[in-house]
Amino acid sequence: MSFTEILENIFWVGAVDWNIRHFHGFTYSTHRGTSYNAYLIMDEKTALIDTVRGTFAEEMIDKIRQIIDPSKIDFVVANHVEPDHSGAISEILKLAPKAKVVGTARCKEGLQKHYFSNWDFQVVRTGDEINLGKRSLRFIEAPMLHWPDTMFTYIEKDALLLPNDGFGQHLATSKRFDDEVDEKILMMEAAKYYANILWPFSRLVTRKIEEIQKLGLKIRMIAPSHGIIWRSNPTKIVEAYLRWARGVAEKKILVVYDTMWGSTEKMAKAIVEGISSEDVETTLFRLPFSDLGDIIGELLEAKGLLVGSATINNGVLPTVTPFLEEMQGLKPRNKLAAAFGSYGWGGGAVKTIEESLEKAGVEMVAPSLTVKWVPDKNEIQKCFEFGKKFAKKVSETNQS
Ligand code: FEO
Repeated sequence: MSFTEILENIFWVGAVDWNIRHFHGFTYSTHRGTSYNAYLIMDEKTALIDTVRGTFAEEMIDKIRQIIDPSKIDFVVANHVEPDHSGAISEILKLAPKAKVVGTARCKEGLQKHYFSNWDFQVVRTGDEINLGKRSLRFIEAPMLHWPDTMFTYIEKDALLLPNDGFGQHLATSKRFDDEVDEKILMMEAAKYYANILWPFSRLVTRKIEEIQKLGLKIRMIAPSHGIIWRSNPTKIVEAYLRWARGVAEKKILVVYDTMWGSTEKMAKAIVEGISSEDVETTLFRLPFSDLGDIIGELLEAKGLLVGSATINNGVLPTVTPFLEEMQGLKPRNKLAAAFGSYGWGGGAVKTIEESLEKAGVEMVAPSLTVKWVPDKNEIQKCFEFGKKFAKKVSETNQS
């Protein structure tokens, strides 16, 4: 795949990773692969914005060579230390020994601790600019979006924002722009990306967007470091981020559970029937058969969450624990939740679920529902009513 000129004299020189299926260890499933987007800005001086994952260094360098001799690069801007963006920095700097590395103070510290090199480094802060000739690079620190070192680069002449991970999606495609791909898939991947990576930092997301709006920066294009570039309507993804950060959700309930001998599953299915009777959309996910990253992506825009587990050793099934731990880490905003599950003698699973979800900041709105051994006809009816009541609560809350 060749380079792409995304704006006059601004080139995408990244790499598409068609085969990656897990990101951040095994926490984030990337069914559609991803891309590592690096951008070459050609002016009187030349700047490379971010690099690619180390294994893709040659692909990036080949593209750069088609445009310019890499030794002519003056600046390598590192918006973010994480190796999917800095992994090829050592390779490019070998070919561009005169280039200055540009990033935040924390970026400098982070790159040093990743690559143990003594590069010529220029530390920048919000508002600092580097003039390239006809255009300048302006920097905006964005700590914890999603690492402490993160910053955005902005080019006023082109009204172009390069926000690194922000507004990205894990989506491998031969296309580079939003108007060239399926919009539904694009927004679904953008939502999954937000939920799995940026959700815990939602307040900072809102603040950063408001800060940029107050600065009055005109934005015609947003070129993130993963996935496609927003050129047809960059406002659409900014508005989606503001909505997600505020916790705006739909009248939808996820039922997430695991079962040992089928009793909790019977409960889950009767609960789903009860929810559906209220004309509320619901999706049933059994752990661990359902993918954690996908569930989290779907939860972003769902108002309600019901979590069920059979009891084992006075707690939840071990297959349910990773989901509860993720919830505590991601701290989803404005969700309503309740717990359910079957037990044989001591019980304990629903208590563990309640405690975990409370720690995650989720509002528990209904008493937990438990069934001893196998649910009988009356208990199945209770499960149905439990789902119905919860659905009503979700509907009422979403209207208020
Ligand atoms: Fe895409 Fe935080 O790295």
